[in-house]
Amino acid sequence: MRLFVTGGTGAIGGHAVPALVAAGHEVRALARGEDKARTLAGEGAEPIAVSLFDRDGLAAAFDGCEAVVNLASALPSSASFVRRSAWAQCTRIRTEGSAAVVDAALRAGVERLVQESVVMIYRDQGDRWIDEHAEVDRYPIAEGNHAAEASARRFTDAAGAGVTLRFGLFYGPGAAHSEQFVAMGRRHVGVVFGHPDTYLSSIHLDDAASAVVAALSVPAGTYNIVDDEPVTRRVHADAIAHAVGADAWVRAPGRAALLLGDRTTSMTRSLRVDNGAFRSVSGWAPSHRSVREGYVSMVGQLCGG
Ligand SMILES: NC(=O)c1ccc[n+]([C@@H]2O[C@H](COP(=O)([O-])OP(=O)(O)OC[C@H]3O[C@@H](n4cnc5c(N)ncnc54)[C@H](OP(=O)(O)O)[C@@H]3O)[C@@H](O)[C@H]2O)c1
Repeated sequence: MRLFVTGGTGAIGGHAVPALVAAGHEVRALARGEDKARTLAGEGAEPIAVSLFDRDGLAAAFDGCEAVVNLASALPSSASFVRRSAWAQCTRIRTEGSAAVVDAALRAGVERLVQESVVMIYRDQGDRWIDEHAEVDRYPIAEGNHAAEASARRFTDAAGAGVTLRFGLFYGPGAAHSEQFVAMGRRHVGVVFGHPDTYLSSIHLDDAASAVVAALSVPAGTYNIVDDEPVTRRVHADAIAHAVGADAWVRAPGRAALLLGDRTTSMTRSLRVDNGAFRSVSGWAPSHRSVREGYVSMVGQLCGG
């Protein structure tokens, strides 16, 4: 299949582009600057310089493509995550960018759109399992995700096959915050946002990438992309401690993170998310069933093992 990928140079894109190429697809990808273009070319993709907000340029770039995969985002760094103003560009990319991508894809006759989203838009459900019918929540930093999902639904209404992938918390080499969790683990700090007995649903970037490949042949719809065994934040911190071989002597920031309300709610809410729908329509399965083995694998990958 001939594809166009946006966000192909990001954390998930760095895994998804090589996976799409390895699956035999002809991949064009948005490149911002020469360094990024060289990286994409090295992965076997054709780099294209075009703005995410330029409908005419995008429509020309999408010409001849059967699918567009929109993975563009601009999440703030961990240091500025709680500053609302730091989210402006990410919200613009997910709102105006996703709308421009859909308009251009429709104009170019693209048949399929794959749009990234996150499971953090579900409401806190305690220890109950969450499938795709569960209620979603609107809080300031999730507005961009809702807009991007609406763009994908608009594509489905017009062209038939919009697929939204709601990813769990990324981890693996390239997912900056998870590399920070590992670094803190080595210093005997267990990173726990909120109550330690609440649930966290994660996905290794290798498995997020294989889900993007699988999304090219599933029915239109919205799917959760998480591993098989969401764990509590306590178990998550223990999994990192085990992977780095250093017991956690302290947990941080703990329940103090709850004081920041909706600014940290994406990191503190309890989300025990089910991946059954995507598994059943695609045959996809995560290679890392849970963070218990996934963080061991990640630490091995970081050490070049
Ligand atoms: N809930 C979570 O999972 C969570 C929480 C906290 C932090 N994070 C962090 O967020 C990152 C998530 O991975 P990601 O792949 O979604 O994001 P990412 O690594 O930040 O990549 C974003 C992608 O979008 C592209 N992009 C950014 N601005 C653009 C624009 N104006 N026009 C076109 N493209 C643009 C980037 O291109 P360029 O390469 O050219 O910049 C890049 O390809 C991870 O690093 C993770 O550590 C995630």
